Amino acid sequence: MIKVQRGCKDILPEDVLTWQMIEKTARDLFQAANYKEIRTPIFEATELFKRGVGDSTDIVNKEMYTFSVGGANKDENSITLRPENTAGVVRAYIEHGFNRKSAPVKLWYFGPMFRYERPQKGRQRQFHQIGVEMFGVSEPAADSEVIALAIKFLNKMGLNNLEAEINSLGCPECRQKYKDKIKEVLKPYLNELCDDCKVRYEKNPLRMLDCKNEHCASIFEKDGIKDVISGDFICEECREHYNKVKEYLNVLGIKYSENKMLVRGLDYYNRTVFEIKSDALGAQSAVAGGGRYDGLVEMLGGDKTPAVGFALGVERLYELIQHQDEEKLDYFVVSTMPNDALLAVNKLRDKGYSADFDFQNRKFAKQLEKAGKIAKKALIIGEDEVNGGYYTVKDLASGEQTRVEEI
Ligand code: HAM
Repeated sequence: MIKVQRGCKDILPEDVLTWQMIEKTARDLFQAANYKEIRTPIFEATELFKRGVGDSTDIVNKEMYTFSVGGANKDENSITLRPENTAGVVRAYIEHGFNRKSAPVKLWYFGPMFRYERPQKGRQRQFHQIGVEMFGVSEPAADSEVIALAIKFLNKMGLNNLEAEINSLGCPECRQKYKDKIKEVLKPYLNELCDDCKVRYEKNPLRMLDCKNEHCASIFEKDGIKDVISGDFICEECREHYNKVKEYLNVLGIKYSENKMLVRGLDYYNRTVFEIKSDALGAQSAVAGGGRYDGLVEMLGGDKTPAVGFALGVERLYELIQHQDEEKLDYFVVSTMPNDALLAVNKLRDKGYSADFDFQNRKFAKQLEKAGKIAKKALIIGEDEVNGGYYTVKDLASGEQTRVEEI
């Protein structure tokens, strides 16, 4: 029997409703923030990713689905299934002269990506990303908008216990000094590093910092090396930019932590980088990642254009939604009439549902907010319901409301 390819999944009818809900939430949120949807092809010239994502990255070196098609001059016709979509969106931005539009140009996308990785939990060969890219603004307010948008989207999906990590990679100039310093202190240990790190040492030393090899990690912990890695290397301008990003995040009430080891697996970043993580995902803990890439448009042949964006893995998001649903109550009874609430909760529990209500009899809106965090459905008993002799059941994921006579 022919089966689905390793690392790929069928999205079955019972899952599609959740996928549609994810897509609708993204569309509504991003459109409200003035992002326009863009749909680019799922394959591009191989050269785009080699130059765009960077040929020292694992993605380009090990994970691309590359084909040579037609013609005698196969190199020219080499195409690759997109492993990510920032490079493709940048190509489209340049090709369609989007730089002539007034800045910022804000775009979002949803679609399949392809990486030839060893499949494991949270790591597929075909997976989907939702992403946004904002072009034309170098100010730190753009970085914080993008980070805030990613978090807002996840909150809208009912996910509130996620960790945002941020870092600044500085600009090419200050980063070069940092790279040189790291190479200098690691030189005596070069033979001990894993094979991947030996290559990274030459091609992209920062990538060594998030190596998963235990021996490499123990070398990075040594005195004299650790201090260099965690040292403050970014220049005055980059520091100011980074401080502003943090200031805006504070203003927006967004919790984050700083992680010096956060370098990301793609070469195009400068200054702000970030990831949003959840322990519930296991080893592949990032549900979203992104950052600033001020050099990419120019590097791919366009005008010098600052840009910042993120992408979020839809399968990982789906996993988190499922995980959270397993932990959620079936019902939270929302009512400002304690007698009715108590009766309803007991009826629901007798029927085998997990259910709770607000013991403090707080305002209706507060109760509904709590329901959204801890339950799949709210059973609403207001005056209309009591007078009409029915209950309103609100599905807290889709927002859909139905009337029921009996529980
Ligand atoms: P990335 O960190 O490579 O960034 O991918 C973003 C997200 O896609 C990850 O956080 C993860 O949730 C999901 N993802 C990546 N690989 C897989 C996989 N093999 N299986 C399942 N999910 C996966 C980028 O792709 C950048 N283009 C993000 C960006 C946009 N930066 C600026 N703009």
